[in-house]
Amino acid sequence: MKYLGTMKDIDGVLEIGGISVKKLQKEYGTPLYVYDLELMENKMKNIKSSFKSDRFKTTIVYASKAYLSKGMTQVVDRMGFHIDAVSSGELYTILSSNFPAKKIHMHGNNKSLEEIDMCVENEIGSIILDNRFEADRVAEACKKFNKKMNVMLRLNIGIDAHTHEYIKTSKHSSKFGESIFDRDIVSIVSEIIQKKELNFLGFHCHIGSQIFDEMAFCEGIKTMVEFTKKISQELDIVIPEINIGGGFGVRYTEEDTDVDLKKIMKKIIGCLEESLESAELTIENVSIEPGRSIVAQAGSTLYTVGGEKKTFGGEKYIFIDGGMTDNIRPALYQAKYECIVANRLDENKKEIVTLAGKCCESGDIIAKNIKLNRCVAGDIVLVSCTGAYGHSMSSNYNKALRPAVVFVKNGKSYLISKRETYEELVQNDFMFNENID
Ligand code: LLP
Repeated sequence: MKYLGTMKDIDGVLEIGGISVKKLQKEYGTPLYVYDLELMENKMKNIKSSFKSDRFKTTIVYASKAYLSKGMTQVVDRMGFHIDAVSSGELYTILSSNFPAKKIHMHGNNKSLEEIDMCVENEIGSIILDNRFEADRVAEACKKFNKKMNVMLRLNIGIDAHTHEYIKTSKHSSKFGESIFDRDIVSIVSEIIQKKELNFLGFHCHIGSQIFDEMAFCEGIKTMVEFTKKISQELDIVIPEINIGGGFGVRYTEEDTDVDLKKIMKKIIGCLEESLESAELTIENVSIEPGRSIVAQAGSTLYTVGGEKKTFGGEKYIFIDGGMTDNIRPALYQAKYECIVANRLDENKKEIVTLAGKCCESGDIIAKNIKLNRCVAGDIVLVSCTGAYGHSMSSNYNKALRPAVVFVKNGKSYLISKRETYEELVQNDFMFNENID
């Protein structure tokens, strides 16, 4: 397993943020999500220092769906980033941590009236309209609260980026955005700009997630710039902004290339400047929405080994105390991870094993046929790079308690979310209080 961020081998025991995994296991129990705060901050700093241009302003919007908690919003705010939300639940979490409302941007392909009201009432930074019908709904909410709202329109720019089928978002058949090839597209924009309750900022796109292909981003940028130019000429308007979404790939295992965030940001800036120049277009501000590239590598999951099993079929299982409830990605996307027995780094004997969780589900596998140092019950298995879409896609299947989250830095650990309790598990359930025979 590749050591990430502040991971260190101290006498055979892994340390993250200056704290040994043994100490973390003892103090917080397992499964446990551990975030290396320094690594996360470095990722943010790298993006911030390189996503810059002399020709336009830039805004970095953290895509909160990758990982969200109140503590995370504080880290995002301290870095001067904006944040996005895609549901009232995310929006509520962000607002309840006193994140500046003007730096919140709302997504969603089917925003409810309640969600739109929440955005308008709280005067958030902008709403990214997914489709032609949402403009009316937002305008209505603006009338109700006597407010004006900044909006962008999400476009489907028809780029088939090379990534997993489930996380592509810009194929012609995608459910997101309005297609630039739609014959009504000009009139859709025209209707938006005519609404006096709305302040149209420009277009948004997001071509997909876990994308390594720089050319796909550049192709997307070129299309966005040319489209912006075309619409501004046809409707005779000034379009001040472009938002090109997120999706920057991350190395999970040796099968992936290691991404240099600074390099990719500079490449994107270069593509933007070039495209704007050749289209002879001036843009005031360009936004990006990185999620995974900020939090994925900073997060690791600690599990305690329970038992092992050698099947009649020859498979050797190591059973851990979590699984698909805290990390659905292997089951859902065939995602691969690197793991290590983190309290036994000196153990040279390695075996090919399958790391399985405790759910009543054959697909509850975290890593299949991986080389792992030998371990026994009570040992700590660390799965690296689980910081994005792990906690945020976790579930209570089999009534699993959602694990705690800690951030670690400079020898200190900070409890960000406590482990769920049995009481919390049933707190929303009611019993029949009458005879139901
Ligand atoms: N902006 C928009 C509009 C998005 O839909 C997304 C991700 C992002 C930004 C951030 O993308 P990122 O930088 O994190 O790749 N659950 C999947 C990923 C779904 C991504 C959904 N949208 C996974 O576990 O791989």
